[in-house]
Amino acid sequence: MEDVTDPAFRALCKRYGADRVYTEFVNADALVRDIASTTRKLTISDAERPVAIQIYGREPEAMRDAAIIVEQARPDFIDINFGCPVKKVAGKGAGAGLLKDVPKMLEITRAVVNAVHTPVTAKTRLGWDEKDLIPRVNPLGISEYRNIDNSEYFIVSLAEALQDCGITELAIHGRTRSQMYRGEADWTLIGEVKNNPRIHIPIIGNGDVCTPERARECFDRYGVDAIMVGRATFGAPWLFAEMKAGLDNSIYRSVDISEISLPCGEGRGGVIIPLSMSEKVAVLKEHVLASIAWCGNDERKGIIHSRRHFAASPVFKGLDNFKQTRIALLRAETVEEVFAIMDSIVAQWGNG
Ligand SMILES: Cc1cc2nc3c(=O)[nH]c(=O)nc-3n(C[C@H](O)[C@H](O)[C@H](O)COP(=O)(O)O)c2cc1C
Repeated sequence: MEDVTDPAFRALCKRYGADRVYTEFVNADALVRDIASTTRKLTISDAERPVAIQIYGREPEAMRDAAIIVEQARPDFIDINFGCPVKKVAGKGAGAGLLKDVPKMLEITRAVVNAVHTPVTAKTRLGWDEKDLIPRVNPLGISEYRNIDNSEYFIVSLAEALQDCGITELAIHGRTRSQMYRGEADWTLIGEVKNNPRIHIPIIGNGDVCTPERARECFDRYGVDAIMVGRATFGAPWLFAEMKAGLDNSIYRSVDISEISLPCGEGRGGVIIPLSMSEKVAVLKEHVLASIAWCGNDERKGIIHSRRHFAASPVFKGLDNFKQTRIALLRAETVEEVFAIMDSIVAQWGNG
């Protein structure tokens, strides 16, 4: 996620059990032009494997060339973004904009798949707008994928077409481009894709999974192979541990506990014992320091960069008479100030 999943945050997500992490999306044209702020986004480390580097763009040639550059960074996956709805991306025919030009989307996918040895995955949405949520004959408008007898959902046909291009996994955000981030994610259509007998690649469901209970429900009800969690992790990387504890009745399946330097929550037999407020605040402090390091040891920049996380963190939600403290926290510009405010929050609102 742009401005969110930098190495500092990915490391925390990994520590708390994320099975895979993704870089921020990386613009193909900027990569080809060797723009320093863009190539920096290719920074990955062995500790975070498996890691995917995500790219976006609107031209097959630029995407192919970008994929070749990305491969040199040795990610485990190269992910193509066909889901970004924002105007500066989709409006220019990249990201979700390609939902309106499926032939080009498939051309880009084939160009990337054929250019690299690294597995290529893709992420997309249910369609461009609500019209794509109604089954119809030949929803992609491509004769090759025409199903003369049956009406089909756009996303079901699209998933097949992308699979035929050679992607190894598909992630689907259960909203259309028109919806942006509004309304609720519709997981029934993600389930339709998963239940299509012609689909043999893993399907990753995405959208509004915020709790361990919802994660379990999505696996059980829609049969997806994996769940991708986005916004709910802001300021809460421990969510992965809580979800896994809830999912598989064991703690931290893929985490080497000896690696964990901070206290973490425990879950046994499906019982989740959450981190205390002071433990969570310790994680947030660590994130602030890691962000500063990522921003070239620029204290102010690193704090501003990590503010999104503490602004959204569930740790600071629902506290009585918190408004002034929140404003002070979001205005603080030095580590000393931020940490002092965080400590005062634990003293005043924490209970262990
Ligand atoms: C600030 C922000 C940045 C995002 N950046 C990306 C991105 O770079 N690549 C991507 O595939 N999705 C991106 N997304 C979308 C999320 O990955 C995810 O699909 C969406 O938020 C729905 O999942 P959620 O409800 O779990 O957040 C972004 C979302 C947000 C809010």
